[in-house]
Amino acid sequence: MPKITIQDFSKKKSEKKKITMLTAYDYPFAQIVDEAGIDAILVGDSLGMVVQGLENTLPVTMDEMIYHTKMVSRAVKNAMVIGDMPFMSYQASVEDAVMNAGRFLKEAGASAIKIEGGAEVAEHIKAMTKSDIPVMSHIGLTPQSIHRMGGYKVQGKTEEAQKKLIKEAHIAEDAGAFSLLLEAIPMNLARKITEELSIPTIGIGAGPFCDGQVLVLHDVIGLFERFVPKFVKRYANLKEEALKAIKDYKEDIEKGAFPSEDQSFK
Ligand code: KIV
Repeated sequence: MPKITIQDFSKKKSEKKKITMLTAYDYPFAQIVDEAGIDAILVGDSLGMVVQGLENTLPVTMDEMIYHTKMVSRAVKNAMVIGDMPFMSYQASVEDAVMNAGRFLKEAGASAIKIEGGAEVAEHIKAMTKSDIPVMSHIGLTPQSIHRMGGYKVQGKTEEAQKKLIKEAHIAEDAGAFSLLLEAIPMNLARKITEELSIPTIGIGAGPFCDGQVLVLHDVIGLFERFVPKFVKRYANLKEEALKAIKDYKEDIEKGAFPSEDQSFK
């Protein structure tokens, strides 16, 4: 099967087939996600929280994103790899945005990038698209704006906020984004945006009417416990499984059951 492209994304929208997306941050998990047939892997800056143990995503650096994206790209055969622009890799200037986005494609093997923001990054999206860097815009709850937003809160609750988000969605599309990620907004607002745009929408906490869905891998498989947002569905509890395996290993060593002759050389 050939690699998933941005053309496959728009084909799926026009054929009303759902786009599947999940985050991954390293070789073994990216291999599993790819083998499962997921369309796109986002190397999200959420790695700051679920891998690095940080309080929020703000300290994540461009070099760390490149390091993780390289591992993911090495593992993937079919999924589209999307690198996530970390805080302060694009806010200061359009030039920074193009150079840093370019690093994901040039150094790390990604085929697209994601950037938080709509209207305020329209010029960045235009410049990146002009440089042949496919861009996914991310609006609604944008975690890098946590201090302005006053926490991880559902966005677009008032009529005015809804109008603003609809406008932002159109601005991102007009600027050249190939797709739009909608985070933590009411489902009927996501439906309206999805119906109005010709590019596919990918939802996280945005209800069932988006063209596709994304979640953070560690939430889905039960490896992140600090908090579980309402929009997460957990499909496994790997922490429990890993804990049991490691406790069994410890017990075996302590009682002399490991290593046995099977694991020894003669
Ligand atoms: O960083 C990330 O994983 C994200 C998801 C929440 C979509 O942006």
